[in-house]
Amino acid sequence: MKKILVTGGCGYIGSHTIVDLIVNGFSVISIDDNSRSSAYLLDGIEKITGKKVKNYKVDLKDFNDTRAVFQENQDIAGIIHFAAYKAVGESVEEPLMYFENNLYSLINLLKCVKEFNVPHFVFSSSCTVYGSPDKIPVTEESPIKKAESPYGATKQMGEEILTSTVKVTDTKAILLRYFNPVGAHPSGFIGELPLGKPANLVPAITQTAIGKLPQMTVFGSDYDTRDGSNIRDYIHVCDIAHAHTLALNYLIENRNKTNYDIFNLGTGNGVTVLEAIKAFEEVSGQKLNYKVGPRRPGDVVAIYANNNLAVTALGWKIKYDLTEMMRTAWAWELKIKEEEDILKNQKFLYN
Ligand code: WQD
Repeated sequence: MKKILVTGGCGYIGSHTIVDLIVNGFSVISIDDNSRSSAYLLDGIEKITGKKVKNYKVDLKDFNDTRAVFQENQDIAGIIHFAAYKAVGESVEEPLMYFENNLYSLINLLKCVKEFNVPHFVFSSSCTVYGSPDKIPVTEESPIKKAESPYGATKQMGEEILTSTVKVTDTKAILLRYFNPVGAHPSGFIGELPLGKPANLVPAITQTAIGKLPQMTVFGSDYDTRDGSNIRDYIHVCDIAHAHTLALNYLIENRNKTNYDIFNLGTGNGVTVLEAIKAFEEVSGQKLNYKVGPRRPGDVVAIYANNNLAVTALGWKIKYDLTEMMRTAWAWELKIKEEEDILKNQKFLYN
């Protein structure tokens, strides 16, 4: 059974990918310092798969602590690197924190990949590398334009660091450019746990609907799109997760064309913010309390993927549509509320 190291394994996409890897026959270990994630999702992984995943609570910015994990696990067949800060707005406020965290972590990891000859490396990249595209849908050949935020810049630099490294090592890499991951595992045992006020659309919708947020703001409805709001390519997190398993098998079976093949992970459908809200209202059966506010600086007007390469080369089949994305996101929000209520009651009982 090949052992895979998932960094950021306690996070949203990381936890869903660990489930998919285990279900598809891999054994998994995780490195996650839990600075922005919770070991709570490891319990969820165990409930779904029956497997207890070991998480090394290590800060990847600390080279010696990172190297110690490789020293202890010299049979790592592949790495999937998720661990990074990813809030666009925060990256504008704290650029140095983003460059230090996202790039030091990657460099330390790649030093270990080199020293311990790890054969396969899958990098979590993002459609933000395309900036504001002139032509949509975007393909993997679409021009890389100036990043709209330091977060996007760390993804562009991360791709550069990785591709330069694998050109001079025997490691083979894949760069997966996610569009907008949303939704939750159908079991309801894992999902997104945004820290503080959510920046992303779908958790903002579900937290408003459940009453955690008083009202949601649509950031602009005067764009040059069919209904004036931004267009994005929302993709279910489980479809994203399965693409990582397919990408690893693609490398293990030597089907790669270069040492750093790139794939867009999106559905190929553009959805506006207002259409996403409508889909949620149909699923939840409740009207969402939102207002239209000013545009958000750094927002791209419209972007969605041409995903033909991932579909043909990886054999990727998308299983979840927008309704399922909203249904699973809402089910997860309801589940967290239920748990919080139980926890509150328990606290109440024992105080
Ligand atoms: C989507 C749309 C907002 C919140 C970012 C990263 C990307 C990926 C996903 C990591 C935009 C609008 C949002 C709200 C709103 N992250 N919106 N009200 O900015 O497309 O992408 O997150 O992989 O790399 O760049 O996602 O969900 O923040 O915004 O109107 O309260 O929803 O203006 O049009 P984004 P998002």
